[in-house]
Amino acid sequence: MRIVRTVQAMRHEHQQWTGSVGLVPTMGYLHEGHLSLVRKARSENEHVVVSIFVNPTQFGPQEDLATYPSNIEHDLALLRELDVESVFLPSAAEMYPTGFSTFVHPEGPLAEQGEGAIRPGHFRGVATVVQKLLHVVQPTHVYFGQKDAQQVAVVNRMILDLDIPVTLHVLPTVREPDGLAMSSRNSYLSTADRARANVVYRALQAARNAFEQQGEADITPLTRATITVLQQEQAVQLEYFELRDANTFQPLETLHKPALLLLAVRLGNIRLIDNFVLHAD
Ligand code: PAJ
Repeated sequence: MRIVRTVQAMRHEHQQWTGSVGLVPTMGYLHEGHLSLVRKARSENEHVVVSIFVNPTQFGPQEDLATYPSNIEHDLALLRELDVESVFLPSAAEMYPTGFSTFVHPEGPLAEQGEGAIRPGHFRGVATVVQKLLHVVQPTHVYFGQKDAQQVAVVNRMILDLDIPVTLHVLPTVREPDGLAMSSRNSYLSTADRARANVVYRALQAARNAFEQQGEADITPLTRATITVLQQEQAVQLEYFELRDANTFQPLETLHKPALLLLAVRLGNIRLIDNFVLHAD
């Protein structure tokens, strides 16, 4: 497995390759969610690149850039086991050299609602770095997790809008045994908060059950079902609960499939986001 630290070396790397190239972009501190993407990329491509880069431009000034968890040696050991060819591990100075001033700025509700409203500028940072990674690695296939549903929608739109010749693959959210969606940031949770964190999953289940078993489709009773579960944990504060069309990402007042149920909460200082996909019958 080769560790590639510069754009120039990464370019050189793929000039040697023929056939399909799968890219899995990550910020490291890898868990089974990331590894499911890597396994899929490995099974579908002749060459696999995983990028590990904690992208400063997608963090707000009050966010956790400085403390974002990292364990590169462990990450590399995991990737070696999965037979990854190259790990792209650039520095911030390599990705954003002095004078850097060109950003990809997704506009409109897709990037400005939901996570975009709570984290202004977040999707500008994501779109910029993903575009750069696609440019440098030039994969034929790129792999993302459904865990970050809005990120997937923004990246999908960017690939269409900028005519980027890559196929986007979206893989299901990998969960802990109690239902909590895996996330590098779960390592911030205290033992007590970790025990309550699956309330997010339980709240989404309650909304899905209200729809599928009781036939509730309006946003008001579905939100009520969600809040009733969240209130079981005093430390949890709702940020948003949204229904969206799974194809267009348009907000829905009345649920119809295929749909996304999107939930974001605060548990102390930590944000937890999760979503369920309701597939068309
Ligand atoms: P990161 O949070 O490291 O996630 C990298 C990829 O793993 C993303 O596509 C994310 O959706 C996916 N992922 C995370 N948790 C998952 C889970 N429990 N199940 C399935 N997939 C999961 O997302 C980012 O990094 C960054 O924004 C990035 C795209 C790398 C741009 O900087």
